[in-house]
Amino acid sequence: MKIVIDTTAATLAYVSDGEETNFGLYTKEAFEEISRQWVRVGWSLAYYHNFSWFGLPILQLPEDLLRLQEVIYRLRPEVIVETGVYQGGSLLFHASLMEALGAGRVIGIDREIPAAVSGALSSHALAKRIRLIEGDSADAAIVAQVAAEVAGAAPVLVILDSGHSREHVSRELEKYAPLVTPGSYIIATDGIMHDLADVPRAQPEWATDNPLTAAREFAARHADFVEEQPAWANRAGPLTKNVTYWPGAWLKRVR
Ligand SMILES: C[S@@+](CC[C@H](N)C(=O)[O-])C[C@H]1O[C@@H](n2cnc3c(N)ncnc32)[C@H](O)[C@@H]1O
Repeated sequence: MKIVIDTTAATLAYVSDGEETNFGLYTKEAFEEISRQWVRVGWSLAYYHNFSWFGLPILQLPEDLLRLQEVIYRLRPEVIVETGVYQGGSLLFHASLMEALGAGRVIGIDREIPAAVSGALSSHALAKRIRLIEGDSADAAIVAQVAAEVAGAAPVLVILDSGHSREHVSRELEKYAPLVTPGSYIIATDGIMHDLADVPRAQPEWATDNPLTAAREFAARHADFVEEQPAWANRAGPLTKNVTYWPGAWLKRVR
């Protein structure tokens, strides 16, 4: 594939399989094509490894966090369950919003939570809103522990950001979806892997072995969940799609 951006003529030409498509440079279509390549190039350069939240590293694309914030503000979850803690920044992100909203708690699950991470979280000003559980997120005993902690809470929002293989995300979706309350979401993050297979640092098998495939298969099996990008809280102009690492990630419980 070849993309030619001509800033003088204000055009973007896209050549794929010998076929050329032309857009005006200042159009929604050109923005989406440029964004796609920006996401891919940025991922290869570990763009998302350069952010922190309230003092701890967070591995997310900033736009995904802004969109997540819009949902948390609207939904006001009583509990957010997140699989995949890494160094704790995303748990602090959720907890900081809950602190500002005056209610809510976060449960973070990771197969390995180093003492430095649990120490940083337990001594943080937001510690009272965070609970850590160590273990494989798809393990039945861990899921049962989370379910017991969540029992009776509403709304419940679940974010899956641990292992990203299709198989692991499928198992997580089946096990954590029952915790999600109607109107809320289970988010299978990092489906962008499906579009990174040819990018440096990625793996060719990601074209099919990725969270997006798992999310689509899950939605096809479960009529009570639909894939739906949350509506933007503020909008002007022609753009409609998130610039995201989470394509197809937002599975809304509709009943
Ligand atoms: C992408 S990082 C999480 C990033 C974090 N949510 C953030 O935004 O900063 C993935 C984490 O998932 C954990 N992980 C991988 N496989 C897992 C599994 N099967 N069960 C639990 N945690 C797992 C890893 O240890 C790692 O800390």
